[in-house]
Amino acid sequence: MIRFALSAALALVLPLTVACGGKEDEPGGGGEPIAAGPQLDPQVVAQANEIYVQRCTPCHGETGRGDGAASSTLNPKPRDFNDAAWQKSITDEHIEKIIKMGGQAVGKSAAMPSNPDLMNRHQVVAALKEKVRSFARK
Ligand code: HEC
Repeated sequence: MIRFALSAALALVLPLTVACGGKEDEPGGGGEPIAAGPQLDPQVVAQANEIYVQRCTPCHGETGRGDGAASSTLNPKPRDFNDAAWQKSITDEHIEKIIKMGGQAVGKSAAMPSNPDLMNRHQVVAALKEKVRSFARK
């Protein structure tokens, strides 16, 4: 009888846990806080990921370490986005500006290209910035 009651309870609890799992951030629950700013559309995030792979990986590398195939010819080299101290030192605005306007616009290497086509695609730029931020959370 007790065993029956236990398994009946489990049968009730398990699907509930599964159904609730990963749905919403519970207050005080684990997980990294999502950076302030607009909630990003998953489609926009997918676009930004694609852009990162196509345009950024050659220099910044797949894991943001600045070790892409073209990076060896660069001086200065792209920094390591995994560097938590750098992440803390830099604003979201700086990251978004350099992505849109290139290195020269923020007093950095002109080798970091501008992306004029992203100038008015604020959500995509925000998602790219989040991508850059995400490397420090690995
Ligand atoms: C041709 C190589 C190249 C490509 C392509 C490139 N970058 Fe860069 N990027 C650089 C270099 C070099 C720097 C470092 C500039 C410096 O320190 O003076 C840099 C700097 C940056 C910085 C700022 C780092 C800092 O210290 O302020 C960010 C953010 C960044 N890139 C993001 C991107 C993103 C996102 C893309 C793709 C849309 C991209 N980069 C494409 C070469 C590149």
